[in-house]
Amino acid sequence: MPRKKINKPNNRPRSKRETNNKTNMIINSRLKIKKIIAIFDAHVPHNLDLKGFIEFLRDEQPNHLILGGDFLDIHSLNSWDKVGGRGLKLEGARFLKEMDAGNDMLDRIQAVLPKKCKIVYLEGNHEDRTSRYEEKNPESEGMYNIPDHLNLDARGIQWIPLKSRNNFYSFKTKDGPLLFTHGVEGRGKYHANKILDGFNCNVRYGDRHTEQTVTRPVKNSISPKIQAKCVPAMCSEQGYMGGRPDAWRRGFYMAYILPDGHFYEYVIQVVNGKFVFNNKIYS
Ligand SMILES: [Fe+2]
Ligand SMILES: [Fe+2]
Repeated sequence: MPRKKINKPNNRPRSKRETNNKTNMIINSRLKIKKIIAIFDAHVPHNLDLKGFIEFLRDEQPNHLILGGDFLDIHSLNSWDKVGGRGLKLEGARFLKEMDAGNDMLDRIQAVLPKKCKIVYLEGNHEDRTSRYEEKNPESEGMYNIPDHLNLDARGIQWIPLKSRNNFYSFKTKDGPLLFTHGVEGRGKYHANKILDGFNCNVRYGDRHTEQTVTRPVKNSISPKIQAKCVPAMCSEQGYMGGRPDAWRRGFYMAYILPDGHFYEYVIQVVNGKFVFNNKIYS
């Protein structure tokens, strides 16, 4: 008796997570919603454990990821400054170790992002330690080029230098530009105020490792208000604070820009190594 033919499905069943991710991508592209995720001040390798954040990226499938500066700590070249040039070989080796840690983190991040996700890397003052070092040591020019060490071209990641006039990345919105920058222009107690004075539009920045927001009405404009918002950091405790009390906060940023040009944003706080979004605990 001939055996009954069983129609096997061509595709293996998708897991719930895969289905959700795919649905997320389809909804975003059909509705032309831009989903932006930004992290500031990860200070790799002195970062928070980013396992939960990477899982969040996998779940959310953003269209844009902003690495908002001080993604790397570059501690090696800072200590070179302090010892006045002694131990150059050692610092070079430590710098390469930091680059390995940076590459490893970018690999982990890019592995979960959709291929079309645009990644922008804003240089922070910590990455800029390389150019300060090279200025003092012209013979080392090019040896500490971070975009080269991190293979940013091959990765398709846009690098925006700190010392360029346009050291920011911006999106068009109904309320004018929504601009991301590292935030070195905003030092002092009232940094959000300074940033808003300088940029005079909606700005999201890091560098201060805390939260601070200033909102200001705009005269003679249909866009009613502009804000400067300091986004918390994604680094662990930093040795240079020497255990002193600080106002640091941990967290990151997410925004949607809808097709009508209005944007909706969230600062997601990381407390005790965990955060909660959409009824899910990430740790
Ligand atoms: Fe920082
Ligand atoms: Fe910084």
